[in-house]
Amino acid sequence: MTAPTYLAESLLAQDGTNDLRRHTELYGARPPDDGSLVDAVVRSGLLGHGGAAFPTGAKMRSITGRKAVLVANAAEGEPLSRKDRVLLDRSVHLVLDGIAATASAIRARDCYLYAPPARVDAVQAAVDERRRTGWDRTKIQVIAAAPGFVSGEKSAVISAIEGGPALPRDKKTRASEAGVRGRPTLVLNVETLAHIALIERLGPQWSRSRGTASEPGTMLVTYSGAVRRPGVAEVPLGASIEEMLTHGAGVDLRSVRAVLLGGFHGTWVDRDALTGRTMSQESLADIGSRPGAGIVHVLGTGSCGLLATAEFVRYLANESAGQCGPCLNGLPRLADAFSRLSIGDDADGAITEIARYTRLVDGRGACHHPDGTARLIRSAMSVFAQDVHLHRLDTCEIHRGRIR
Ligand SMILES: Cc1cc2nc3c(=O)[nH]c(=O)nc-3n(C[C@H](O)[C@H](O)[C@H](O)COP(=O)(O)O)c2cc1C
Ligand code: SF4
Repeated sequence: MTAPTYLAESLLAQDGTNDLRRHTELYGARPPDDGSLVDAVVRSGLLGHGGAAFPTGAKMRSITGRKAVLVANAAEGEPLSRKDRVLLDRSVHLVLDGIAATASAIRARDCYLYAPPARVDAVQAAVDERRRTGWDRTKIQVIAAAPGFVSGEKSAVISAIEGGPALPRDKKTRASEAGVRGRPTLVLNVETLAHIALIERLGPQWSRSRGTASEPGTMLVTYSGAVRRPGVAEVPLGASIEEMLTHGAGVDLRSVRAVLLGGFHGTWVDRDALTGRTMSQESLADIGSRPGAGIVHVLGTGSCGLLATAEFVRYLANESAGQCGPCLNGLPRLADAFSRLSIGDDADGAITEIARYTRLVDGRGACHHPDGTARLIRSAMSVFAQDVHLHRLDTCEIHRGRIR
């Protein structure tokens, strides 16, 4: 194979050919394991890309038991996200390198890649190619992810790997102590693993040379909604959101009403509040938002924020696993009340019910599904307060136009 003349430094450097030869040309071979990876990941400041931005190095350090298991999570149940699919399509070998490196660092005995069913054959072919060519002897089992929003939650993934239903379990049990078949288990998002593959080759300074001091590195984002260029891009953490929208998504900022950051479990941010904001937890914290898994969904002027949110809340209610009280009783009521508010049907009653049930479901489920739903609703009620007012008076021109 051709030796690389330079090492590609981005996650999506690979063009149409997602094979091992092209991968090696771009990124070079993996360096030998010298036992320093966990330390390098800690020093890189890498934060997980599955949504919660937990420090990856600390998660790797927490795996201390024997017969550890590594799970690469590519479920991507969030309907507005495409980044993990695009990553598998364009850089599957970077993800597999990340799995090989991490498995070796935590001494994992078993590795699983939990992938959308439509990607399983391609990922399996890549795993087979690596073994056949002797490039990588890591044993990786590719498992088809169950459909649905909550199937990518880590305890649901663990249950699915064990052959059970892909439903979240009691959140008190730590996967690092008792995950797959009771063994210490590290669940990482596939993008996180691709970053680890680059850190293994380029060192922690690769991450540190991008992003901000507290949130180094890059992230994959997915643009959707009222944008000219929907799709996936890699941006440094701390990138200006206004610049991402104009240069990345091809949006005229005058046509933006609000942006949903972080997806269905994320938060709406008003157009004016975006000024000077960047894609980082630090920059978004005081408005109760965060980058999450990189979803940037634009609501155009002329669209009703309440109608859009009502659709999302209905979807979330339908996607609950229906095994805990808040999801079983609370989310359908919230979806009904939000629908009523969005069409101005007893808006005052709906507002009271939304306030009551948002409070009741928050923090009460076995997983964070109710919390994420409550977060979305709170942000909609605050960012679209003017719409709420108009729906109470039944004078919202947008929704009148939409339902006529
Ligand atoms: C309802 C719900 C759905 C989730 N879906 C995904 C998913 O599709 N992919 C993913 O990587 N993480 C998902 N997560 C987060 C995982 O539980 C887990 O934190 C993540 O895979 C860890 O990876 P990271 O440390 O690399 O971020 C979800 C969490 C919740 C609460
Ligand atoms: S909170 Fe909802 S989604 Fe989470 S485990 Fe309970 S029923 Fe399932």
